[in-house]
Amino acid sequence: MENSEVYAVICISILLIAPVIVSQQIPADKRQVNAWFEGIIKPVKERGNSLDPELIQAESNPKVIKVRQGGGGEFNSVKKAIESVALGNTKRVIISIGPGVYKEKIKIERGKPFITLLGNPKNMPNLTFGGTAKEYGTVNSATLIAESNYFVAANLNIVNLASKPEGGKTIGGQVVALRVSGDRSPIYNYNIYGFQET
Ligand SMILES: *[C@@H]1O[C@H](CO)[C@@H](O)[C@H](O)[C@H]1NC(C)=O
Repeated sequence: MENSEVYAVICISILLIAPVIVSQQIPADKRQVNAWFEGIIKPVKERGNSLDPELIQAESNPKVIKVRQGGGGEFNSVKKAIESVALGNTKRVIISIGPGVYKEKIKIERGKPFITLLGNPKNMPNLTFGGTAKEYGTVNSATLIAESNYFVAANLNIVNLASKPEGGKTIGGQVVALRVSGDRSPIYNYNIYGFQET
């Protein structure tokens, strides 16, 4: 298996146990985080019917779509990969994103649940755009907007490139990098960059 596919599998397992995490506090000491995480993570089989039936159904046969800038994938942009997912999607679709800088404004609409955006942790892709509140309004200025439920993301840099607002002078200088508006949307190992309201 390619690295990204291995991580895809890990990611699915993580998603399925995610609702349990909410009930247990994250340790303040960084050194304890891995042990805490591993103590909570249980294989899908052990979760049994404690999961939402629609989630169990969605995860039963995940589809992987590869996005690669240098060729070798189904698409060369994340946006096109998301467009290829049908409205009313009922299956987990893992969009595996190869290394590189993707200058795109990405939106996953509400009618497309069960989408995963997955980078490679050793070479995390940059999702970048420069939307500002002045142009789009604050909530829609984000580089990555996920409005659907059961969205998952891992191993990404999410960047709003818009330049630094000048204190008190710039109007509409809010530049959001990430907005997640759906439910049950775990995100792992990511960095978000932006100058205001990131
Ligand atoms: C990705 O974005 C971060 C934050 O803006 C930046 O530090 C890094 O250089 C970018 N990587 C590439 C390959 O452009």
